[in-house]
Amino acid sequence: DWTSDVFIDASIADLKAKIGSDKVVMGLSGGVDSSVAATLIHRAIGDQLICVFVDNGLLRKNEFEEVLDSYKHMGLNVIGVDAKQKFYDALAGVTDPEAKRKAIGNAFIEVFDEESNKLEGVKWLGQGTIYPDVIESISVKGPSATIKSHHNVGGLPDFMKLSVVEPLNTLFKDEVREVGRALEIVETIIGRHPFPGPGLGIRILGDVTAEKVKTLQEVDHIFIKGLKDSGLYDQVWQAGAMLLPIQSVGVMGDERTYEKVVALRAVGSVDGMTADWIHLPYEFLGKISNDIINKVKGVNRVVYDISSKPPATIEWE
Ligand code: XMP
Repeated sequence: DWTSDVFIDASIADLKAKIGSDKVVMGLSGGVDSSVAATLIHRAIGDQLICVFVDNGLLRKNEFEEVLDSYKHMGLNVIGVDAKQKFYDALAGVTDPEAKRKAIGNAFIEVFDEESNKLEGVKWLGQGTIYPDVIESISVKGPSATIKSHHNVGGLPDFMKLSVVEPLNTLFKDEVREVGRALEIVETIIGRHPFPGPGLGIRILGDVTAEKVKTLQEVDHIFIKGLKDSGLYDQVWQAGAMLLPIQSVGVMGDERTYEKVVALRAVGSVDGMTADWIHLPYEFLGKISNDIINKVKGVNRVVYDISSKPPATIEWE
């Protein structure tokens, strides 16, 4: 029978034998998979593992600082890289969803390559790949597709020439969480909703600017904090907000306003392949809508997405 303790012991022994005294570099995303994989590798080889956590300017409010802090607390040897401006520059004027993904993926590769080239004697690339990523095509939109297209155009980035170590590639998501809990990783990381690699970049419909990111971060923060405060967060598989590329008329005092619309989305799912919209309580939605409109400058209307997947996808782009 599979147990997390047996898995952890076997995995650590295997990693030690495989890696020996070599160095491993690994990109962290703040998500469950990369965090668990890094912790496992760190248990095996300690500070021979060097982690890189990139601020792409498309993360949730305060996420970079909070997650970086958690990683340091966990004892990981982690380098935080502020690359916000590089991503905003790469995204300037780009409106097509796939072009945005590509711009974000390529910017990430450049930043990660630059950072890993600063390190000496690295032989391995650590990855948080899990079993469904191996068997399914869910990574079609993910980083591997980006890497593939990059590979087709020019030479491989240097870090891609490293040997890959993927300690979670036989596990399903629930097993990864179990392993993470057994490794005593904080619940704020283990229990967190999935979040797409391109982040808020694909939740801002149309072109992305630093100002729009700020607006959406505030909206998203009110929504997610509201879910947590109301005990609803763990009943939802994934939730987030979209900033729509339209304005609508509103009224504030005796002034007419003409401002942005945001859409809230909360879905239930097992693996993201299909999803149902969640029937959040009206009182909750009403309160969140009021909070958003009162507190976030430039937003005067909130709508709730009641579409399921298929035919709608979870993300809007
Ligand atoms: P969709 O929108 O396709 O999303 O129903 C299914 C799940 O995948 C996530 N997603 C992504 N994750 N890079 C990622 O790493 C991407 O480009 C990407 N697009 C969607 C989405 O958040 C959901 O969990």
